[in-house]
Amino acid sequence: MSKEIVVSGIRSTGNLHLGNYFGAIQNYIKMQEEYTCYFFVADYHSLTTHPDPAQLRPNVFKVLAENIACGLDPERVTLYVQSDVPEIPELYLMLNMLSYKGELEKTASFKEKARKQPDNVNAGLLTYPTLMAADILIHKAKYVPVGKDQEQHLEMTRNFANRFNHRYGETFPEPYPFNFGKSLVKIPSLDGTGKMSKSENEHATLYLCDEDDLIRKKVMKAKTDQGPTEPNSTMPDYIVNLFDLMKLVSSEEVVQQFLNNYNDCTIRYGDMKKQLAEDMVTFIRPIREKTLALQQDTASLNRIMLSGREKARESAAKTLSEARKKMGINFYT
Ligand code: TRP
Repeated sequence: MSKEIVVSGIRSTGNLHLGNYFGAIQNYIKMQEEYTCYFFVADYHSLTTHPDPAQLRPNVFKVLAENIACGLDPERVTLYVQSDVPEIPELYLMLNMLSYKGELEKTASFKEKARKQPDNVNAGLLTYPTLMAADILIHKAKYVPVGKDQEQHLEMTRNFANRFNHRYGETFPEPYPFNFGKSLVKIPSLDGTGKMSKSENEHATLYLCDEDDLIRKKVMKAKTDQGPTEPNSTMPDYIVNLFDLMKLVSSEEVVQQFLNNYNDCTIRYGDMKKQLAEDMVTFIRPIREKTLALQQDTASLNRIMLSGREKARESAAKTLSEARKKMGINFYT
């Protein structure tokens, strides 16, 4: 039986952090065993905010290196760069004829971007969901491992697919969001407010490129208090967060020991944070070092990109040719 198809796009801006690792990347790594995976760097999408052209190459190399360093295996998945596959913008053009202004304007991400960058409300921003649909439909994906913030885009992808199918005949399967149940855990930030983020809250977010000492510094600054005064008292949110972070990187015994200390009021948060900091360092260091080594090995990265491009285009060309025929763009016999 052939494996089911999975597509996901990785944003090429901002530093990857622990939340990205435990939210998205870990899912990718699990999926690479059981599914036919197409993972790509969404560099065209990043153009909506007019990034500095000189930054594109280092950004693309960095996300590729980071994802591979985390365990994504380019031998097993098709790992490519969006702009290397011209079939995607071609399908995007076709899908634009089935994307209506009204629905695009109502998209939450569009409204937010329009508010944030009122001087640059461009058509690319408006049709961001259409490009994302093209990314997904070009490989006829069944599943898309994305977080809650992308569910509306996925719903729109299903609408575009259905519209195409109704008008031109069955072509695209409906893609659905995919998650491994508990893996949609929220990774709390270190200051007790919200979650770790690519761009905000830098001092309370652990990035996969943070140096050992910076990791220690950030963890040691995490919010705590005097400690519980009565046995088995309820934990304040910011202490729950510390335990949640500890569960990600420390051994069960270590977590249990601090839980016991909490419950019998002997906990010393300084010690707990020192332990958490060391376990974080042990977790992040090899990823950071591998990323740095890969980032400098541009020859290997180029080889990986070229082989990904070839595999992605093979699949994309098939779908595109089918879509063109269905639409009647079929002039040579
Ligand atoms: N919009 C996604 C994000 O912001 C990135 C993305 C682009 C994507 N194209 C995609 C994700 C296709 C899944 C499938 O994270």
